[in-house]
Amino acid sequence: MWVSVLLTAASTLASGFTDIVSFGDSVSDTGNLFRLDNGTYPLAPYYNGRFCNGPLWVEQLAGFVGATLHDYAYGAACATNASSFPVPLPGGSGILVNQIPDLAGQLKLYQADSISKSLDLSTTLFTIFAGGNDIDYSASAGKVPDISAIVTAVLNQVQNLVTLGAKNVIPVLLA
Ligand SMILES: *[C@@H]1O[C@H](CO)[C@@H](O)[C@H](O)[C@H]1NC(C)=O
Ligand SMILES: *[C@@H]1O[C@H](CO)[C@@H](O)[C@H](O)[C@H]1NC(C)=O
Repeated sequence: MWVSVLLTAASTLASGFTDIVSFGDSVSDTGNLFRLDNGTYPLAPYYNGRFCNGPLWVEQLAGFVGATLHDYAYGAACATNASSFPVPLPGGSGILVNQIPDLAGQLKLYQADSISKSLDLSTTLFTIFAGGNDIDYSASAGKVPDISAIVTAVLNQVQNLVTLGAKNVIPVLLA
C-alpha cells in the first residue's frame, strides 16, 4: 500500500526536475549541521549525520524523479534566528542554535555556491521546510513564539527565491 502510494506520487512527479535545492531544518538536513559541529551531533542511532534512521524525504524525492539534490538545510535551524534564543546545541560543540544558518543564512550560502549560477531554474525545485524549531525554542525558553516573524521568514525566502528566478518552490511551515 505504502509502496504503491509512493510509486503513484513518483510517476506524478516525473515532471522533468533535474535539480532540487533544499532549505530548512532537520527534516531536510543530509549532514550540514554534522559537518558544522565537527561530527558531535546528531550521533548514532541517527543515520550518517541525519536526524532520521535512513535517507530523508528530499533524498528519496530526488531519487524518484532522477534529480540532483543540493542541500542547504541545517538541523536545529530556525526559520529566523532573529526570533530565536541562545540555546546550546546538544553534543558539546559550543554552537548556539541561533548561530546556525537560518533561512536567510542558508540562502546566502546557496548564492555563494557556484552551483547557484549554473542551475536551470525551469527544471529546479526549491523546498523550504522550517518553523518547528522556532516554536520549540520559544517554548523551552518560556516565551510565546513570534508566529508572525516565523511566517514572514518563510514567505521572505519564497519571495527572495522568486526574485532570483525560481519557478518551482514548495514552502512548508512546520508548526
Ligand atoms: C571544527 O573544526 C574546525 C577545524 O578544526 C575548527 O576550526 C572549528 O572551530 C570546529 N568547530 C567546532 C564547533 O568545534
Ligand atoms: C542567523 O545566523 C546565521 C549564522 O550566523 C546568519 O547567517 C544569518 O544571517 C542570521 N540571520 C538573522 C536573521 O540574524
